Amino acid sequence: MRNRRVHRSEKIDFFKAIACAALFTTGAVAAAAQTADQAWLDHPVWRDSQHTLFLVHPLGESSVERTSAHELNYGILHLYGISSAEIDSFDNRIVIGTADEVHKEYPNAAVPAKLRPESFWINTTHPRHGTLIIVAGGGERGVLYGAFALLRFIAENNSPPKKVIREAPAMAIRWTDEWDNANGTVERGYGGRSIFFEGGKVRDDLGAVGEYARLLASVGINGCNVNNVNGAAPFLTPEMIQGLKRIADAMRPWGVRLAISVDIASPQKIGGLKTFDPLDPAVQAWWAAKVDEIYAQIPDLAGFTVKADSEGQAGPASYGRSPADAANLLAHALAPHGGVVLYRAFVYNNHLDYNDLKADRARAAYDIFHPLDGKFAANVIVQIKYGPIDFQAREPVSPLFAGLEKTSTAMELQITQEYTGQQRHLVYLAPMWKEMLDFDLRAENRATPVKEIIAGKSFNRPLGGMIGVSCVGREGWLGSPLAMANLYAFGRLAWDPNLSAEQIAQEWTRQTIGTDPQVVATVTKMLMQSWPAYEHYTGPLGTQTLTDITGSHYGPNIESSERNGWGQWHRDDAQGIGMDRSVATGTGFAGQYPLQVAKMYESPATTPDNLLLFFHHVPYTYKLHSGETVIQYFYDSHYQGAEEAARLVEEWATLENKIDPQLYHNVMGRLMYQAGHAIVWRDAIVQYFLKESGIPDAKGRAGHFPGRLEAEDAHLNGYKVITVTPWEDASGGKAVTCDASSAPKGCSAEWTYAAKAGRFNIAAQYFDLQGGVAHFALDVNGKTIAAWAADAMLPSRRPDGDNSTRFTARDVELKPGDVLRVDGTPDASDPAALDYIEIEPAAAPAR
Ligand code: GCU
Repeated sequence: MRNRRVHRSEKIDFFKAIACAALFTTGAVAAAAQTADQAWLDHPVWRDSQHTLFLVHPLGESSVERTSAHELNYGILHLYGISSAEIDSFDNRIVIGTADEVHKEYPNAAVPAKLRPESFWINTTHPRHGTLIIVAGGGERGVLYGAFALLRFIAENNSPPKKVIREAPAMAIRWTDEWDNANGTVERGYGGRSIFFEGGKVRDDLGAVGEYARLLASVGINGCNVNNVNGAAPFLTPEMIQGLKRIADAMRPWGVRLAISVDIASPQKIGGLKTFDPLDPAVQAWWAAKVDEIYAQIPDLAGFTVKADSEGQAGPASYGRSPADAANLLAHALAPHGGVVLYRAFVYNNHLDYNDLKADRARAAYDIFHPLDGKFAANVIVQIKYGPIDFQAREPVSPLFAGLEKTSTAMELQITQEYTGQQRHLVYLAPMWKEMLDFDLRAENRATPVKEIIAGKSFNRPLGGMIGVSCVGREGWLGSPLAMANLYAFGRLAWDPNLSAEQIAQEWTRQTIGTDPQVVATVTKMLMQSWPAYEHYTGPLGTQTLTDITGSHYGPNIESSERNGWGQWHRDDAQGIGMDRSVATGTGFAGQYPLQVAKMYESPATTPDNLLLFFHHVPYTYKLHSGETVIQYFYDSHYQGAEEAARLVEEWATLENKIDPQLYHNVMGRLMYQAGHAIVWRDAIVQYFLKESGIPDAKGRAGHFPGRLEAEDAHLNGYKVITVTPWEDASGGKAVTCDASSAPKGCSAEWTYAAKAGRFNIAAQYFDLQGGVAHFALDVNGKTIAAWAADAMLPSRRPDGDNSTRFTARDVELKPGDVLRVDGTPDASDPAALDYIEIEPAAAPAR
């Protein structure tokens, strides 16, 4: 046998089966519009590789094993920068198969005896000639995960592993939930329309679904629930089940099992029964028959997810029945087929009485589910959001994880950034998830970190896991390239919650952006800084995100969470802020935790600063552990957060010419937008609390903007002054708008520059409304120095913090007496609204 270094120009001939496989895989990838390669599977090419090419020798024939071998082969070719290969023999081989298959073929290989079905073992040896790598899986999924692990290793290290790699997933359930509707929209999705559905049915072209499954499998995800938890009844019609079968078929080769959300009222809504009472025999028979009908088409359906008695979804409470009654009804129908029920603990009353100081939405999940512990069937898993409220940027971990010892549980988190910047802001969520996973709830006064509870270890449960609400779409999966780090991190943490957020960030960067150490260090640093930055400029000290809670969940709107039934209150007034959730004087929520944790949260003195206002109502002058007052921390953290967002732009700028230019420019545009929007957040919250508390910023920043020229103070031509709602979303509460009917040629705002001469950046803060593309121009002494279009797609149809946007003209020379003018040309329902211009020395950080 010859061992020959393969050059990129050479053609090498693989075993026939594998040659076809390579063509199949690469061909499929080339034809599909949306591919997994657009994410982290576009491996770097090791052009300078010192290593020889490997022949992939598959031992098994099952569909998942064939996929594994194809993927490994495709990945290896890609890593060496070639698309096909031709050589008569190879000394370097990768043998891939189940442990049993490997035993038969290589009786002397040291494959461990008891490999669990999803686990794998990778061993590199050096027989007489070349290198032999054996990838053995406990079962076919283990083979698949082993193949991806080996590729990941080579992609990151430019060499095969020298030591044995043996891994097993920490938890059984590792699913994404998609919130797709049959009409093709995706609830809380920011990556375009559904890859699964369109026009009320399953899409004809499911190419992207196969690619998505490939992406999920590459990080060990083994289930995908494809439809929204809201409005799920139509998904159980016979026609839809036929379509769902096609989705299951597309995902199956990647070991990803289909799951679906069901509406507990389906027997009534689509089954023609008069009732959906879980204890009614006719209802039980209906579900049993429906489940049989589904399994006849989809024999490996993973199970059902249920949202009931929550936010308008029907539930067992209509008949005085409990969530356990509803969950067990479905569980009994699914059990003979091996399916599970993910029953969501997100059950609460959204008509709470704001004036009742004891009312507390945070209590709901524990109050409802804890008394039911022990009453759920063995194949029920209670799916619990990480915090007691709703995917906020900072919440304590839900006490329910410790409140269900005789029930399997899973942690639900959001990959889609509903409350964390909707993919327009860079927010790498793995550090937050890690805090949740690592948090030790001290159940029974012993170590019970959440990651061990949901893995089934702490209370010896057979099931459990992690669910990531992903909401991918047709526009680059999540709509933003760097947001893909969150999907990657979710899979990696569900596989191994002991990995660090930083390590995952590095892995992802090496595979996706580049292996240059400076690139890896910079991107990792940016990712790691992004969640703290977001928390700093949106809602610190455990207030939760101070966003428009009844609307977009995006821009600032502080009062929207008060005085309504939704219960996401922070109860601020002129004296203080925060929800009193102590047992002694508040809602009692703190008492839902096991003793040691309950004790910590009971008193402001022992509550960590970052959750102070979640648990306690304190005066603005209350001193934090850091020694600062609450109000001064509010000012400081918002200024700090906006600076941190600006720094992301500077850090990314250092990567120009080091990474793919298209990616560079795409991300740069997003980061500059984020830095501008962080200022909108900062100013809204700072000016709101300055007014509310009447306490000035000790550093003199809040309410003082030396370089700012307000539009309402300008000499206006056509523009009219308006009051913005909420007032804190515009500088000084006011802006100007141009009415297209009365000023068809547009409007202008003019100021005379009166400060000292120099070179400046001039930022224009305008509102980019939906429903039209307004145009703006910035003139100095009648000469246009910049022009731009308000063509972003941002929430809200009126000027507010959702769409307040910043454009900056850089390095402009100004002297006293110069005339600055902004021309705004409205379009359709976009009135070219303008808030202010701000003049900063050109040396100031770019934003
Ligand atoms: C959030 C989200 C809803 C979603 C709900 C849920 O409240 O805004 O769109 O339906 O969570 O998790 O069920």
